[in-house]
Amino acid sequence: MAQLMIFLIAFSLLAFAPLCFCGKSSSGYLYPQFYDHSCPKAQEIVKCIVAKAVAKETRMAASLLRLHFHDCFVKGCDASILLDSSGSIISEKRSNPNRNSARGFEVIDEIKSALEKECPQTVSCADILALAARDSTVLTGGPSWEVPLGRRDSKGASLSGSNNDIPAPNNTFQTILTKFKLQGLDIVDLVALSGSHTIGNARCTSFRQRLYNQSGNGQPDNTLDQSYAAQLRIGCPRSGGDQNLFFLDFVSPTKFDNSYFKNILASKGLLNSDQVLSTKNEASMELVKKYAENNDLFFQQFAKSMVKMGNISPLTGNRGEIRRNCRRIN
Ligand code: HEM
Ligand SMILES: *[C@@H]1O[C@H](CO)[C@@H](O)[C@H](O)[C@H]1NC(C)=O
Ligand SMILES: *[C@@H]1O[C@H](CO)[C@@H](O)[C@H](O)[C@H]1NC(C)=O
Repeated sequence: MAQLMIFLIAFSLLAFAPLCFCGKSSSGYLYPQFYDHSCPKAQEIVKCIVAKAVAKETRMAASLLRLHFHDCFVKGCDASILLDSSGSIISEKRSNPNRNSARGFEVIDEIKSALEKECPQTVSCADILALAARDSTVLTGGPSWEVPLGRRDSKGASLSGSNNDIPAPNNTFQTILTKFKLQGLDIVDLVALSGSHTIGNARCTSFRQRLYNQSGNGQPDNTLDQSYAAQLRIGCPRSGGDQNLFFLDFVSPTKFDNSYFKNILASKGLLNSDQVLSTKNEASMELVKKYAENNDLFFQQFAKSMVKMGNISPLTGNRGEIRRNCRRIN
């Protein structure tokens, strides 16, 4: 009898252990209603300023969406990307993925200053990035989702993290997947989130190698449609034109839709990191096909994966701070 009791107690401890653990997971503290009482107009203010900025320049939607990604992959979603260099802080804005590329910082500044007027030192810069990413997606025709909130802002930045943890366009499929896995994201998240490249631009320098000397043998990438490659070479010569801009999705460059996946299936993915999703891995290729065939499925998974990405190691409780100016620590 005593043995049975011990067995039952041991069994119930084992059975309920995962529940307790889940309740304390690192993402458990964010929730959409976080500012409902402390700053009820917060979401409206963010949306309004993002809408104004996107109306002025459509590409801004893409740039703001990307900022959240580049924030979350470096020490978590803590607005580290927004810090300028000063004192011991070396700005992530100087990193390889961000230099001459990341943009939208002025729009975040404008949102922050409006929020500081409405409710001083209440809404974090990290949450502004998460909300602006969602609003940018919706404004360009993509899915909507409730954004879990309550992130706080870092007191530091990581230039090396920005260089090492954000995937590069010439990384192999395996390297890219590994970088996602290090963030707790899987292959489904990788393919769905890459669908962000349905909007926005890339510079010639981000894909030139594919056009001229893909594997060091003086030949273009043979997984790239040759007539598409010929068009790209016009604006992206062997040397020079590094900053020339190209649509990531040439079919509907400013509309958030699944044409990115259709392009990949037609060997017209712009970046090497786009094309490898259909050429280097069976599971990934199946996902590309699924999203190319079914826009709703892409939208549903995109929303889910964005929430998951937004949950990467947030600072909560009394960790970090609420910056008054997103560019510097208080
Ligand atoms: C899977 C690995 C990824 C790689 C290797 C990658 C790489 C790149 C590169 C090289 C560019 C062009 C930058 C330039 O030339 O200035 C770019 C643009 C962009 N990326 Fe990604 N990216 C990846 C995933 C993501 C994810 C997960 C998101 C968002 C959730 C995202 C959102 C964007 C957007 C919206 C743009 C256009 C930005 C603009 O027009 O300002 N990317 N990406
Ligand atoms: C990728 O591109 C960067 C920048 O052009 C270069 O320094 C690096 O060697 C390339 N890496 C690979 C694996 O080709
Ligand atoms: C291609 O790249 C390889 C290795 O980086 C280099 O040795 C070779 O000279 C390049 N070929 C051309 C035609 O640019």
